[in-house]
Amino acid sequence: MFSRIVATGSSVPELEVGNDELAGLVDTSDEWIVTRTGMSRRHIATTDTTSSLAAAAARKALDAAGLSADDIDLIMVATVTPDNFTPTVSCQVQAALGNTAATCLDLWAGCSGFVYSLRVADSMIRAGGVHRALIIGAETLSRVVDWTDRNTCVLFGDGAGAVVLEASDEPGVLACVTRSDGSRGNVLRIPGLANSNPWAIKAASDADAIAPPPSVISMDGQEVFRFAVGAIQWSLEESARIAGIDISSIYRIIPHQANNRIIDAVASRMGIERDVFYTNLQRFGNTSAASIPLALDELNRAESIPVGAYLALVGFGGGLTWGGSVIRWAQTA
Ligand code: UT7
Repeated sequence: MFSRIVATGSSVPELEVGNDELAGLVDTSDEWIVTRTGMSRRHIATTDTTSSLAAAAARKALDAAGLSADDIDLIMVATVTPDNFTPTVSCQVQAALGNTAATCLDLWAGCSGFVYSLRVADSMIRAGGVHRALIIGAETLSRVVDWTDRNTCVLFGDGAGAVVLEASDEPGVLACVTRSDGSRGNVLRIPGLANSNPWAIKAASDADAIAPPPSVISMDGQEVFRFAVGAIQWSLEESARIAGIDISSIYRIIPHQANNRIIDAVASRMGIERDVFYTNLQRFGNTSAASIPLALDELNRAESIPVGAYLALVGFGGGLTWGGSVIRWAQTA
């Protein structure tokens, strides 16, 4: 028993914000952002939420597969920006789709959330407990960006991408690898809620220790950059090794869309043609857990990926977390 991707979908908010508009908010410029990251614009939510984007991407994937909501028995959403702590985004998607058959599960693994979710769903399908899964990466990072911090606010965007993964006799997902290093968690943080319980406040020797931390992204960009290059290389090498294929036979690599320079560095270090890496960060920015399925859906709709072609998906991000997958492309609807 294997699992394979049979359809993709995505959704982004209508509003597009260009670099020049950000230069009106913080001390930056189109030239700096393009040169240092490759990004020109990103979609920003105004009325959309993480769950509405996730549900819209899911509907498109279901439509592409010619399936109805109740054909799905697992809904997984990778996100670091859920609408609520509970209900989960996956439960909200279930309600929006009118599905009554699925187990719903959110997964937090930063920008690696989609490849982590693929690994979990693939394992559940291969174990026989699940027949067909919706795997969604969805974010509204605009809610947790510090819009006064030029180091981070120019990088992120909102959106969602989804795939339908189903049980198959034919090999589809050939390998999934994941790693984590919690000891380096501080290099990329979005703090949780402040503790307002009166006993904790009384027990705190330093009032600042429990002062509400701003729930915004902070990042040591250079440290994450260095980590990312090694993480992508390891994920590609390890997933190709387990899949039993040579990296040179991969048709397209879809990396987490964080920075063109990271991808350039990996391509040159590993001797891989730059064009093998698919990027759309120019138009979407870094959408964290949504970036890989968003790019995969765009690629799938833009060109006909040959049936049987090998694709590699590679994620890295907060936690720290990283991982990848090699898949053999199936006929998508
Ligand atoms: O999805 C999660 C994973 N995240 C990532 O993968 C991000 C990885 N890191 C990066 O992509 C890059 O490190 C950044 C794009 C975040 C930053 O690029 P950098 O080339 O590493 O720049 P830097 O942090 O070394 O900053 C260089 C200069 C600094 O000024 P000084 O100290 O040299 O005077 C910054 O203050 O650029 C300045 N700077 C800016 N200037 C104009 C930082 N942000 C901006 C900005 N506009 N937006």
